[in-house]
Parts: sequence; C-alpha cells; structure tokens
Amino acid sequence: MRQAGRYLPEYMEIRKKAENFLDFCYTPELAVEATMQPIRRYGMDAAILFSDILVLPDALGCDVAFEEGRGPVLKPVVCAEDIGKLSGDGFLENLSPVFETLRGVKAALPKDVSMIGFAGAPWTVAVYMVEGHGGTDGGRARRWAYEDEEGFARLIDLLVTATAAYLIEQIKNGAEAVQLFDSWAGLLPENQFYRWVVTPTRTIVNKIKEIYPEIPVIGFPRAAGALFEPFVRETGVDGISIDSGVPLDWAASMLQNRCTVQGNLDNQVLVVGGTAMEDAAKRILDRLAGGPFIFNLGHGVLPGTPPENVARLAAVIRGWNGA
Ligand code: CP3
Repeated sequence: MRQAGRYLPEYMEIRKKAENFLDFCYTPELAVEATMQPIRRYGMDAAILFSDILVLPDALGCDVAFEEGRGPVLKPVVCAEDIGKLSGDGFLENLSPVFETLRGVKAALPKDVSMIGFAGAPWTVAVYMVEGHGGTDGGRARRWAYEDEEGFARLIDLLVTATAAYLIEQIKNGAEAVQLFDSWAGLLPENQFYRWVVTPTRTIVNKIKEIYPEIPVIGFPRAAGALFEPFVRETGVDGISIDSGVPLDWAASMLQNRCTVQGNLDNQVLVVGGTAMEDAAKRILDRLAGGPFIFNLGHGVLPGTPPENVARLAAVIRGWNGA
C-alpha cells in the first residue's frame, strides 16, 4: 500500500520541486527520495517504489494529467479506433525514469530491506482509461465489456502484455517482489470478474514466473469479497492483499492456506491512532500472524494521518509477542 506521500511533511517539502505529480514520478532523484522517506522514518521491512499505476497508460499515449484537487485526468479510450492509437511499442522507453528510480532505491536501501515494484492491474487501468478520470463506478467500462466483448478484450490484452513487460523490466532493475493493484475489482459481478480480473492476472503471473519463478507476485483485487477465494486459487499469486472488509477468520481459513496474506487494517483507524488503532492492529495479528503473513493496511495511508501514529503502529507490531 502507499506508505509515502502527502501525510509526510518531508514529502510535501520535496513535492514542490516538481511542477506536477507526473513530473515528480518521472524525476528519479525525487522519486528515490520519496521512496526512502518512510523507510528512514519508520524502518519498514520493505520499500514500495514511489510511482503511480497511471504512468503505464501515460507511457502508452493516454496523456495522463493529475489536476490539483481533482485527481487523474486521461484522454479517454472509448472505441477500437482509440485502442489503435495507443503505442504498444516503445512504451518501456518512456518508463525509463521509473527503472532508473528502482536502481537508485536499490542502491540507497539497507541490505535487509526489500524493494517492491508495482503496476495497476489491467481492469483497474482500463477503468481509468475508459472513464477518463477517477471517482466513477466504472459504468462506461462495464457497458463496453458487455456490448463489445471482443473490442474491450483488445484493450485488456494490450494492457496484459504491457503490464507483464513493465513488471519484468522492474524486476530486471532490482524489484524483489511485485504487486498488482486492482483497486476497482469489486465493481464486477462474478463472471465478469473471472474474465477481466482473474484471467488477465493469471496471464501476467505466468509471464513473470516464466522468467523469474522466484519473484513473489502479490494481488490486490480490492473489495472482491467472496471472490478473493477463487482469485487466490486460480491466479497463482504468492501473496494476497486484503481490504478492510474481508473477515479475518475467513481470510485465515480460505486464503492463508494457499498464500501469504497481508492488509486489512482500516486506514481511517490510523488517522485516529491511540487504543482504537492498537486494538485493531492486535486483532489482525491475533488472527493472521500464525500463518504466512505480512502486516499491512487495507488501503493506502491517507493524507491527514499523523506520522506519529504510523511510528506507534510499527512499534506495536514489532513488540507483539502473540499474547
Ligand atoms: O507510497 C508509495 O511510495 C507508493 C506510491 C503509490 C502512489 N500511487 C503514489 C501517489 C502507489 C503504490 C500508488 C497506486 C495507485 N495510484 C493506485 C492503486 C492503489 C489504490 O490506492 O487503490 C491507484 C488507484 C492510483 C491512482 C491515483 N493516483 C489516484 C486516483 C490519485 C489521486 C487521488 C489522490 O490520492 O490524490 C493518485 C495520486 C497519487 N499517487 C498521490 C501519491 C502519493 C498523491 C499525489 C500528490 O502528491 O498530490
């Protein structure tokens, strides 16, 4: 999950050095520093690359912009002709600052801290590309998938190919694990979930494993509910990131027998801190720390989170003794 960003005063300080958020992401010196900030402050066991899932559609030719107070805005892809305009070739070159960032982070990280790369999963990236902005229910993308399955599949296929190549390149440049963020997976009914979330994820996992069988792949089909179980069973992911809505005992019995489980802490309880936060963290540790487990949040750290709450959370986790 996002562990860097706007809640950290040191991030707000360096954020001023770039004109806009994408320029910030494409400036390796700044992105390396943003990646390192939470590691220096809290000593996390893993650093997550500072970038964004929308650099991939940007590199494919979608002209992504982040507008102050509005979030991401993209040139929408609404028909087969628009897909034809995307440049499936050469996009990795556009992403070279990301690879330079990974090399820089690798050099800066202590040896015992892992580096996690990431990308958006095809469905979630397609939702942004088709809708043209965030904050939607993905209605346009969902309708396109019903009306013209073949056309929509061309968009997803292009994203599957590009995402796999992008993650493989991240691993080549030092990523030791990769996470696929499918933030809008929960918008889909079962059959569509298999078609646009499970199958594309499985293809990407297979492509990565062909070259790097030892690199863990983590999935995050946010808000997928009971569909987390077939997701884990059928995609071949090594780890599953669960949102705050997943029942812990269910996760322990239905997911943890197949892969490492992480996540679940409500990011709002981190804003509040105190005993509410400590109790919530201990509930997760009690239910999940007995199996393969990584402590994490159910969704990224929110702006407005007091940094001292994150420090306290790290101390609670480190001090937990199973009692
Ligand atoms: O903490 C880290 O170092 C990780 C970096 C990271 C960012 N985005 C930085 C970011 C990661 C892993 C992401 C993933 C991401 N981006 C997702 C998937 C995870 C999730 O949250 O569901 C999604 C859906 C996006 C798309 C995105 N990026 C949106 C919708 C927004 C605008 C909303 C917002 O929070 O401002 C962003 C912007 C963004 N990405 C920021 C950061 C730190 C804030 C930009 C700023 O500095 O103004």
